[in-house]
Amino acid sequence: MPAFYKVLGYKFVLAVTRRAVSKPQPRPVVYVGNDSSRQLCRSIAHFGLKNILVVTDKPLVALGLVDIAVQALAEHGVATHIYDGILPDPTLSVVEAGLAALKQQHCDGVLAFGGGSSMDSAKVIALAAANDMSIVDCIGFNKAKKPTLPLFVIPTTAGTGSEVTLAAILSDDETHAKMPVVDFKLIPSAAALDPVIMKGLPPHITAATGMDALTHAIESYIGQWSTEETSQYGRAATKLIFDNLQTAYENGDDLAAREAMALGSYYAGLAFTQAMVGYVHAVSHQLGAHYNVPHGLGNAMVLPHMLELLKGAAAGKLAELAVYSGIGTESEPESALAQKLIDRVWELNAAIGIPKTTDVIQEQDIDAIVEAALKEGNGYPVPRFIEKSECEALVRGLRSV
Ligand SMILES: NC(=O)c1ccc[n+]([C@@H]2O[C@H](COP(=O)([O-])OP(=O)(O)OC[C@H]3O[C@@H](n4cnc5c(N)ncnc54)[C@H](O)[C@@H]3O)[C@@H](O)[C@H]2O)c1
Ligand SMILES: [Fe+2]
Repeated sequence: MPAFYKVLGYKFVLAVTRRAVSKPQPRPVVYVGNDSSRQLCRSIAHFGLKNILVVTDKPLVALGLVDIAVQALAEHGVATHIYDGILPDPTLSVVEAGLAALKQQHCDGVLAFGGGSSMDSAKVIALAAANDMSIVDCIGFNKAKKPTLPLFVIPTTAGTGSEVTLAAILSDDETHAKMPVVDFKLIPSAAALDPVIMKGLPPHITAATGMDALTHAIESYIGQWSTEETSQYGRAATKLIFDNLQTAYENGDDLAAREAMALGSYYAGLAFTQAMVGYVHAVSHQLGAHYNVPHGLGNAMVLPHMLELLKGAAAGKLAELAVYSGIGTESEPESALAQKLIDRVWELNAAIGIPKTTDVIQEQDIDAIVEAALKEGNGYPVPRFIEKSECEALVRGLRSV
């Protein structure tokens, strides 16, 4: 981890973020619908690019999905080199290897083909390459002067919203602590939300990544930096996900549900790229760092526990989401509506196989988890600060006994 980051910590980083994110953010051109990934590939040729680095992972290559993009690019005269070394929650060294591949192959643009791990890696590779920087030098805020190399993304999970956010999250190779790269320049030029690419996403990954998107929608909505604009996106995302995640989980071939989830994830990305996230992410990041719990699964498990804790402070916002999602009506008391929203999250989790508790959390780690979660979470625009004892009780509540 870079020394400056250790010294300054999340609070400084988030104070800078607030100034940055409140400005209007650029948005990618977005192609939506069946085979929109081919449309995106056709548009890449318009940029006069000759040799694209495709940043992806081995399972996606093995499934033959990456071929769809490679062939579409070839049809339009664009050569590709595939870097398939991305692993979930990519570490610095994994991303450095991608940058080395780009340089070795003299690529002039970058296409991310994958979930948040591939997209985040591609974003930083494109930034580092254009600025002749190392990956580690990109960590932090607005570290680079020049825009990225031409950058395009095809998300294969619905999910992280990384296709529209100004952030990329990398992990330390040893501690697995998360290290954000934050820069408007990371927002890609264009993205394709193509349900066909998501058909084969296994149910457990559909569930976890879908709940990541729901967490973005709800945490940004109840947080103190939400605006009229981010709230519109948060409400739309919440309803789309409540209405479609279980269908996508049960029937992966349902292209309408897949497209709705891709849109929900994108809208949630638009919301949290400005209004940020909260304590759910702060706790989930520790489960990832200590036990390799996937990002989405961690959020999915923590979300209802945390909402129970915050429901007093966030009752009004939770009630609005309940009414908008059709879970209750305006005539009901605010606290009852807030509880209905939380109960809907518990119910959805149960329907898509997300456990209420986990056996990975070890007693001897609890202090460190709580300390790091509070350090991170207290820097987010949370509805209210939580006490150490509350956070500890929550973490204990997550443990299977
Ligand atoms: N930049 C941001 O704004 C942002 C926001 C949230 C999370 N993140 C980061 O995103 C990462 C998590 O991304 P993720 O949850 O999308 O998962 P992921 O990219 O790590 O992928 C998880 C697994 O799903 C598989 N997979 C992906 N798409 C598939 C498909 N269509 N069919 C079959 N298998 C498929 C992958 O091969 C991989 O094994 C974390 O590192 C997290 O920190 C970033
Ligand atoms: Fe997330």
